[in-house]
Amino acid sequence: MKVALKIERFNPKSDAKPHFQEYSVDVSENDRVLDLLIHVKRFQDGSLAFRKSCAHGVCGSDAMIINGIERLACKTLVKDVAQNENNSITVEPLKNLPIQRDLMVNQDEFFKRYKSVKPFLINDEKAPGRERIQSPEERKKFDDATKCILCAACFSACPVIREKNPLFLGPAQVVQASRFLDDSRDRGFEARIAVLDTPKGVWPCENHFKCTEVCPRGIKVTKLINLTKKKIKNYRERRGQ
Ligand code: SF4
Ligand code: FES
Repeated sequence: MKVALKIERFNPKSDAKPHFQEYSVDVSENDRVLDLLIHVKRFQDGSLAFRKSCAHGVCGSDAMIINGIERLACKTLVKDVAQNENNSITVEPLKNLPIQRDLMVNQDEFFKRYKSVKPFLINDEKAPGRERIQSPEERKKFDDATKCILCAACFSACPVIREKNPLFLGPAQVVQASRFLDDSRDRGFEARIAVLDTPKGVWPCENHFKCTEVCPRGIKVTKLINLTKKKIKNYRERRGQ
C-alpha cells in the first residue's frame, strides 16, 4: 500500500520554525511507522533526523506524536494509524521539550528532573550477611513502576506542563520516585520527599489522565502520582504537620 507520510521538519541551522514535509512511501500494512521513517531516511531523504535503538519497545528512544497521539514508532503498525483514502500518517516530535532537529527533542530537562528524584536504591544500613531479602509480595508493590522505559510520552502529553506549570516535575519522574518509595529495602523516603513535596513536585498534577492514556507500557501513571500524594499526606500527619 502507498502511505502519505507527513513529517514535521526543523533544522535549527536553516529553519526559522518547524514545517511539514510530505513523502509517499510504499509499505506493507503490517510495517511499523518506524519502518516508514527508516525507508524515508534510506531512500528518499538522508537529512531526516529521528532517534531509535532497540526497535522493539524496550529502549524508549522513538516516542513521537503519530496522528496527534504520543506513541512508540516501533510499536505502531501502519494499518492501525493510516487514515482516509490516501492512507495518511502525520508524525511530529514530542511536546513539552525543545526540538533538537526534526523528530528529535532535547531530553536534558527530562533527565535532569528524573535524576532529581534519586532513582536508585538508598540504604546506608549495614547489609545483612548475604543480601537484602524481599518477599514476592513486597516486590509486587512496585512492579508497575519498573516497567517505565523513560520514553517521555507522558511528559509530552501532560497538559499541566504545557498549559499551567512548565516546572511540574513530570509524570515519569513521579513513577520513578514511586518505584523506590514502594521498595521495602529502600530508606530514601525523606530525601525524595524533599523533591516531591514542593510546589514543583507532585502537587501540580490535576488528574487529567493523559499520561496514563499514552503510556506505551500500560503503567497506571496517574494512580502512582495519587498514591505518592497520599504517602506525603500520611507522612505529614505522622509528624503532626
Ligand atoms: S511512565 Fe510510561 S509514558 Fe512515561 S516515560 Fe515511563 S514508559 Fe514512557
Ligand atoms: S526503538 Fe526502542 S522503544 Fe522503539
